[in-house]
Amino acid sequence: MPETAIAAPEALLRVEDLKIHFPIYDGLFRRKVGDVKAVDGVSFEIKRGETLGLVGESGCGKSTTGRAVLRLYDPTAGAVNFEDRDIASLPANEMRAMRPRMQMIFQDPQASLNPRMTVGAIIAEPLMEHTKMSAGERKDKVAELLDQVGLSRDFINRFPHEFSGGQRQRIGIARALALDPDLIVCDEPIAALDVSIQAQVVNLLEDLQHRLGLTYLFISHDLSMVRHIADRVAVMYLGKIMELAPMGKLFASPRHPYTQALLSAVPVADPKIEANRKRVILTGDVPSPANPPEGCVFCTRCPLAKKTNDKRCFTIPPEWREIEQDQFVACHLAE
Ligand SMILES: Nc1ncnc2c1ncn2[C@@H]1O[C@H](COP(=O)(O)OP(=O)(O)O)[C@@H](O)[C@H]1O
Ligand code: SF4
Ligand SMILES: [Mg+2]
Repeated sequence: MPETAIAAPEALLRVEDLKIHFPIYDGLFRRKVGDVKAVDGVSFEIKRGETLGLVGESGCGKSTTGRAVLRLYDPTAGAVNFEDRDIASLPANEMRAMRPRMQMIFQDPQASLNPRMTVGAIIAEPLMEHTKMSAGERKDKVAELLDQVGLSRDFINRFPHEFSGGQRQRIGIARALALDPDLIVCDEPIAALDVSIQAQVVNLLEDLQHRLGLTYLFISHDLSMVRHIADRVAVMYLGKIMELAPMGKLFASPRHPYTQALLSAVPVADPKIEANRKRVILTGDVPSPANPPEGCVFCTRCPLAKKTNDKRCFTIPPEWREIEQDQFVACHLAE
């Protein structure tokens, strides 16, 4: 088949040069003295039905990006296009109509579920808020949602504290599914769970994705956690994306020094490769996002910059470039 006959998969979400800066105030008159540049010029797209992993150390701006995608924050600059409409500039009433289509699953189901509400009420809450369903219809829908996430219908009148961490995460997932969303931002959904439970929740999310045609932004501080679920991965550092590539390429041939360092910490199943695995230990602390370094934001910790002492690293922010088909990096020296 000629290539032009294959329709390009449609992007459900296109984030363009997104910036979220939080003002810092100080002094008697609460004057603005600076900005925390939590997200500082991030661009990516997610195709319908795809999972994009967003990975990076704590504090690099992953959650802020996820929240901005759902417009829980108003961007300082840039656009968040959902089906080609910039939701960052939608008026409140249109945004309200859009809300059901994008949902979030949180890291800590304990903190995100109201302890005084029954499981049934927790899952039905979005239905109350956004639909005109009757009480009977809501009850049927809640029962159906419990089936979908593998929980017994008998749990409907119980309270969150009666459940294990994995079960509570399933309740959170059922609630996120209630309004038949297209996009779900999963913010470290398995990080707080026992290792034995993590795979079950990942499998459930994958199964739901296939059955319901869901699109995921899957956030994790740990590359090995996105390995089995993401189609492509974006690696973030200090408010910027360092590298973005299909999962296979990223693991087989990471090009950015930061990705290489992160990957060197991921254990390999093959004992021969594992024995020879070279770990790149990053020295120094992550700089403050209120005062990021000049040039490349990674320059204060980059082993390659240390080795080469290339002046560009310390003076010019690297361009975002396609180093190989579908593999993008922000680095002057990557090859
Ligand atoms: N509401 C806020 N006000 C001020 N600073 C914030 C706020 N939310 C996050 N930050 C700061 O922005 C940076 C990115 O935070 P976050 O997006 O939570 O990172 P991650 O999810 O990758 O750990 C951090 O330095 C954090 O302290
Ligand atoms: S641009 Fe320089 S400092 Fe930044 S990642 Fe590349 S080599 Fe390291
Ligand atoms: Mg976070």
